[in-house]
Amino acid sequence: MIRKAVIPAAGLGTRFLPATKSQPKEMLPVVDTPAIHYVVKEAIEAGIDDILIITGKDKTAIENYFDRSVELEYLLEGKEGKEDLLHLVQDIAHLANIHYIRQKEPLGLGHAVLQAKQHVGNEPFCVLLGDDIFQAEVPVLKQMIVEYERYGDPVIALERIDPSQTDKYGIVDIHTTMSSRTYKLKDLVEKPPVSQAPSNLAIIGRYILTADIFEILENTKPGRGGEIQLTDGLRRLREQRDIFGYEPEGIRHDIGDKQGFLRATVEFALERTDIGPAFAEYLKDLVKRGI
Ligand code: G1P
Repeated sequence: MIRKAVIPAAGLGTRFLPATKSQPKEMLPVVDTPAIHYVVKEAIEAGIDDILIITGKDKTAIENYFDRSVELEYLLEGKEGKEDLLHLVQDIAHLANIHYIRQKEPLGLGHAVLQAKQHVGNEPFCVLLGDDIFQAEVPVLKQMIVEYERYGDPVIALERIDPSQTDKYGIVDIHTTMSSRTYKLKDLVEKPPVSQAPSNLAIIGRYILTADIFEILENTKPGRGGEIQLTDGLRRLREQRDIFGYEPEGIRHDIGDKQGFLRATVEFALERTDIGPAFAEYLKDLVKRGI
């Protein structure tokens, strides 16, 4: 059974400067909710009750967000018609058991995940990267847990990308196709140039891992970009045991990218019953005006 999730949130967010100059990128709102809230929610919906967020410098806003805000609750309690908002802010503080640990230096994703070693112990666990958020009927992590339970080996989420984009992702090489969405992997390469990519199946930000990855990460040398790469650790793990890739059902939004962020905002807004219909009208009007 998978009980623990790790969410690396120590990145500098340089792609979203200047907004990220004084706030973590994980707190940028998609409609009215910080990006990291969607990720935490996905983990909870997959049955996870213990979440470790790997933070870095200047990330206190994340801790404050998932904590109680007694002053705000007090203010809302005193105001008529604000009961819904009061419940909203109270519920956030009770979402799950959230723990924090700091990655003291930005040495890469593999190094960030390694910070979870003591907290995770010997259990299988999952890793969710905040740059990818999904719209899916069954939460993506939940779909992956089904695969993990079937095979008992690590499972990594994959998506077919445009072949020109391989140098932006970890790319996998397939050993065997197990079913329409599941593959046994032969190899994993971090951000290969197009000419060296073994496929166009990219690693997207969800992993179910086993605790043997930690010892490997401890011995993984800096790779691409001088960083300790999770993909390099997985490549070594693959030499010891099977690793599976799974193409989830649903729509992925790469909110680490400006276009992706805007698209996510539009699609999440359209899904909302409170603002969706009026927003859809506005978009239709834009089209009519030829914009
Ligand atoms: C990380 C991983 C990469 C993966 C990507 C998914 O890269 O290193 O293998 O494909 O996340 O979002 P990053 O985007 O953090 O540079």
